Amino acid sequence: MDGTLATGFDVEKIRQDFPILSQTVRGKKLVFLDSGASAQKPRAVIDAMTRMLEARYANVHRGAYFLSEESTAAYEAARMAVARFLNAADEREIVFTQSSTGAINLVAHSYGRGILKPGQAVLISEMEHHANLVPWQMLRDAHGIDLRVARVTDAGELDLDDVQKKLADGKVGLFAVTHMSNVLGTVTPAERLAAMAHTKGAKLLLDGSQAAVHRAVDVQALGCDFYVFTGHKLYGPTGIGVLWARKELLDAMPPFLGGGDMIAEVTIERSIWAQPPARFEAGTPPIVEAVGLHAAIDYVTKIGMKAIEAHERVLTEHASAALAKIEGLTVLGKAQDRGGVFSFSLDAAHAHDLATLLDRTGIAVRSGRHCAEPLHTRFGVESTARASFGLYTTVQEVDYLAEALTEARKFFR
Ligand code: ALA
Repeated sequence: MDGTLATGFDVEKIRQDFPILSQTVRGKKLVFLDSGASAQKPRAVIDAMTRMLEARYANVHRGAYFLSEESTAAYEAARMAVARFLNAADEREIVFTQSSTGAINLVAHSYGRGILKPGQAVLISEMEHHANLVPWQMLRDAHGIDLRVARVTDAGELDLDDVQKKLADGKVGLFAVTHMSNVLGTVTPAERLAAMAHTKGAKLLLDGSQAAVHRAVDVQALGCDFYVFTGHKLYGPTGIGVLWARKELLDAMPPFLGGGDMIAEVTIERSIWAQPPARFEAGTPPIVEAVGLHAAIDYVTKIGMKAIEAHERVLTEHASAALAKIEGLTVLGKAQDRGGVFSFSLDAAHAHDLATLLDRTGIAVRSGRHCAEPLHTRFGVESTARASFGLYTTVQEVDYLAEALTEARKFFR
């Protein structure tokens, strides 16, 4: 396989866009299989951020001078790019946050405390990242919300019967669930979940931290009410995340953080909030990061999310088959609809030892619980090693991982 798909996707050419990938580590060619934790950055993102800092930088929304106008225009252009990327109906539905975690905390504080009433419930699932679990525990404890948890099947899929059961009494105000698990790779049936939630009067929040990187996302077609993702997993910078929410929801929500730029009027006694999205962007926002995210979105859009998805499907199928052949290796989950994230344990070794050994061969994987401790408990494992793919991952790298795992088993036994 030469890495070129019918879509014209040429992985070797794409790899040349990522300066970091050409290096060696510990004397070996770098095989970066930790994109689920944070993806590497293409030259286009690095250059866009450098250009912004060198020539266009000033604070936004605050100056009547040339550079501030330029900077504001760049920041707001990034918002429009995100709106197009998600197919949002209106760019005012896009709120820049610090991360996905920041976006979910915003919803938990603002929608959770401001709109949900004590006695109502929030439904999550067993396969949530801590970012979509802990804020809801905090809301439960502070605001008298019932926190319900939908089960995950042995195959690593969301148990839809259990979701139905937990929505049945109509008390769930918000169903907050991953769009793609960062541990199992499971892609959840978002449109179906939206219909299930809406029938019972609940809103749907999708945590797209993983999904938005691997699939084209159309928030209107998905039918969700809130969607969050983060810049650094989408080949953009750290320090910026996105909350998309339907305009009427944002309009009704109180602010989370108070400060500059989120107000229409302030006296010493009281303040009047600005309209969204400014209402939710207190303080100096991540300006250069927004420009970097814009460049990342342009980059993946030019390649095509469908082409990226097709490439990753090939990798995922190849990895499923290759890992299944390794004796003593157990992969968590085998969902029908899954992306390129594989968490596994080897009978002969602890996950950290395995990751350390793989590192000696140049392979970077994550080990531990991947910020999803309850999911590991659900599957009865202490920890796993995880290989996660990006648009620059090759079939050869997957083969190299499989060979290294086979050798690792021999070594540890
Ligand atoms: N949430 C990131 C991961 O899954 C850090 O590794």
